[in-house]
Amino acid sequence: MTASHSETPSTKPDASTFISDHQQVDRSKLSQMYLHYVETKDKYPHAVLLYRVGDFFECYFQDAVKLAQELELVLTSKQAGEQGRVAMSGVPHHAWERYATMLVEKGYAVVICDQVEDASEAAGRLVRREVTRILTPGTLLEEGMLKSSRNNYLAAVVIAANHWGLAYADISTGEFLTTQSSDLEHLRQELMRLQPSEVLVPTNAPDLGSLLRPGETSPHLPECLPPSFCYSLRSQVPFSQGEARPRLLQKFKVRSLEGLGCDHLPLAVRAAGGLLEYLEDTQKENPVPLQKLRSYTVTDYLIVDSQTRRNLEITQTVRDGTFHGSLLWSLDRTSTAMGGRALRRWLLQPLLDIKGIRARLDTIQELMENTPLRQDLRQLLRQIYDLERLTGRAGSGTANARDLVALADSLSRLPELSHLVTEAHSPFLKALQKVPSVLEELAQKLHAHLVESPPILIKEGGLIRPSVNPLLDERKATVEADQQWIANLEVDERAKTGISTLKVGFNKTFGYYISISRTKADQVPANYIRKQTLTNEERYITPDLKEREARILSARDDLNQLEYEIFTALREEVAQEAEVIRNLSRAVAAADVLCGLAELAVHQGYCRPEMLPGREINIVDGRHPVVEQSLPAGFFVPNSTQLGQESLVISHLSLADNQEQITNDNPDLIILTGPNASGKSCYLRQVGLIQLMAQIGSFVPARLAKLGICDRIFTRVGAVDDLATGQSTFMVEMNETANILNHATSRSLVLLDEIGRGTATFDGLSIAWAVAEYIAVDIRARTIFATHYHELNELASIVPNVANYQVTVKELPDQIIFLHQVQPGGADKSYGIEAGRLAGLPAVVIQRAKQVMGQIEKHSKIAMGLQNLD
Ligand SMILES: Nc1ncnc2c1ncn2[C@@H]1O[C@H](COP(=O)(O)OP(=O)(O)OP(=O)(O)O)[C@@H](O)[C@H]1O
Ligand SMILES: [Mg+2]
Repeated sequence: MTASHSETPSTKPDASTFISDHQQVDRSKLSQMYLHYVETKDKYPHAVLLYRVGDFFECYFQDAVKLAQELELVLTSKQAGEQGRVAMSGVPHHAWERYATMLVEKGYAVVICDQVEDASEAAGRLVRREVTRILTPGTLLEEGMLKSSRNNYLAAVVIAANHWGLAYADISTGEFLTTQSSDLEHLRQELMRLQPSEVLVPTNAPDLGSLLRPGETSPHLPECLPPSFCYSLRSQVPFSQGEARPRLLQKFKVRSLEGLGCDHLPLAVRAAGGLLEYLEDTQKENPVPLQKLRSYTVTDYLIVDSQTRRNLEITQTVRDGTFHGSLLWSLDRTSTAMGGRALRRWLLQPLLDIKGIRARLDTIQELMENTPLRQDLRQLLRQIYDLERLTGRAGSGTANARDLVALADSLSRLPELSHLVTEAHSPFLKALQKVPSVLEELAQKLHAHLVESPPILIKEGGLIRPSVNPLLDERKATVEADQQWIANLEVDERAKTGISTLKVGFNKTFGYYISISRTKADQVPANYIRKQTLTNEERYITPDLKEREARILSARDDLNQLEYEIFTALREEVAQEAEVIRNLSRAVAAADVLCGLAELAVHQGYCRPEMLPGREINIVDGRHPVVEQSLPAGFFVPNSTQLGQESLVISHLSLADNQEQITNDNPDLIILTGPNASGKSCYLRQVGLIQLMAQIGSFVPARLAKLGICDRIFTRVGAVDDLATGQSTFMVEMNETANILNHATSRSLVLLDEIGRGTATFDGLSIAWAVAEYIAVDIRARTIFATHYHELNELASIVPNVANYQVTVKELPDQIIFLHQVQPGGADKSYGIEAGRLAGLPAVVIQRAKQVMGQIEKHSKIAMGLQNLD
């Protein structure tokens, strides 16, 4: 412990006894170190400054209070020169990563100011300290701070009226993308898809550099941005065209932005330039290697808005937000961290391009048909570490020797991988056939230089193999000889003095010494110089020993320094190849995803969907991928779906047509009725999930599937209170419904689960009717509408592209059996009262409910009434 921490804290810290605002101090009265602290703090007013003092990282003033509060540490105080006591709290230096991670997770930026020389070197003057690292939620690299299963995105937005630019990067993997579009709703959806850890926003706020933690608001934050993210308020200058453009040109060493695909996208360029400037500003010490900037278009992908992602439980469940039980959970059979992240990205950004989808399907099919290939590939992939992030750490100079060994191990698997797929003919396997020879050579070199299991520390030697460097070998030999001399010394001196308990020891303060028990102290030879007296022993040195010691220590320092230099040169070589490694990593990740999907398809009996340009959705014996996996095998009841007519002229039927029963095999809109708990919601989601899985290029849980490409999937499921935003259940429901009606097209898939139920029955029913009719007649989106309003079944009799389906149950005298089968026709009962009885409502209540229902059921025929209105 340093002196500071052994000081007894002033019993209960009382804010009046110490200063907790660094702006309030008289700097002339601060001791040197505190003055340096305060000056450093001035440069980072918005971050928590962790300042290295001996074995601790300490915080003072307001940061001390913040640190103590957020991490439940003791707040104490410390004398800071004539100025008096200032607030202080601290954490042990070896645990800084853990504490910094906690702060960053809470949305703080953390600045690390470390000692850059040994206290002994300073010899009396102030130890040199420098800012060595700035951590913000979006700029993490440390392995322990990142989740291996997902990307950690830093985003930047530029908004001009209704137009916007968005750039994002994951500095741990090097991905860097930018886009531009015109609907602010799309911007929100993109942010929700990416879930960035930090979003940069150019503003003219006075407190530039401040970080708004999730939920915090500022008048300088554009209203259209969702409040759930961490926002960094930045100056507008680096986001201007004049600065952003040249910065990108220089970074990627290109003459025009055409090659990056964003020449014609000024807002995308500004966002990307601003992001780059932020990285340069925060990563001074460790410039991160980024991949070449890529431009994309939001509308090139299937748009899945955040509601739909939530309702379809793509990455987490609705009920308790867990990963377990989500679609991603049920699909993930990947073997590498890179593959896991890629699958998540694919799921959140399904494709529209049939060719792209077919390429993925072809690869899955080849892997399904060739079981040995699939098994071998999976086996080999399991031995490949996180190449993307290892490369990132090498590039930013934070990788240790273990990282490089892991990287070399992984790289040396690549030739085996390419050998396995020599015969393969599908596109994603062919991509693995060529491993650039530089990577093989790099792996060999790393293996040849680094010992098999090096220590974590890189400045204390023990990293490099013998015979790599003659000078190193020479220095090692010297150090070893000297160590041998010390070892022999004990034996020799025992013999010389006749003291059998004589020992040679070492400690940091005195270096090497000879220890003799006090009872034998009178026998020591004259050349021994007494250095220290302990209770039972005396410690001595000799001039000879001291001379050796000086040599050993300096030789060891030289040795460690040389090892460090050889190591950093190796790391630099890896950084040089970052782009090549990452290109290959991407290919490995994609192959891993597809291998996992093939494995899944084999085990779950999925089929290859036939992807079509039209509007048809034809699923035979479809299943819900997650519910199926959570039930015992064979328990899930498969159901078929047919949606999507080709002809586009739809009008209300005349009353005359209405006389005949209309049979509609391929309706655009299905009204789905059925008792409570029969399986309506499950069926609805199943169709959405199958369509989505098909558009990421996966096989699907069905016996047969012919699917037209969808441009968007919309869902509106259940009535959920959005207390966080203070909106009522019904308003949330109507907002979402409005969003669907305003954005759906005839190529969209719309899944509506009981809309209208959040208000009075007749209001609700009327809205449900009008919405269904509008979607079927005006939008013609393929739609399934699950409802307990059986009156909606009448819609099918006046709109030809609407059909009724029901989930069936079998009614026995004292119970209902759920068949979970979807069949043509409308249900006329919800068995809600029956459900109430089963749940234990008192008999009188049930009885009364039946009477009330009897009265209500004398309803009028809605369809007939409406027909007369037209
Ligand atoms: N096809 C199926 N095969 C087997 N079990 C099913 C099937 N569909 C649904 N289930 C089971 O039935 C349960 C109830 O299904 P679901 O929530 O879809 O009913 P619902 O008709 O929407 O009910 P409610 O009207 O009360 O909302 C599900 O939790 C699921 O376990
Ligand atoms: Mg339901």
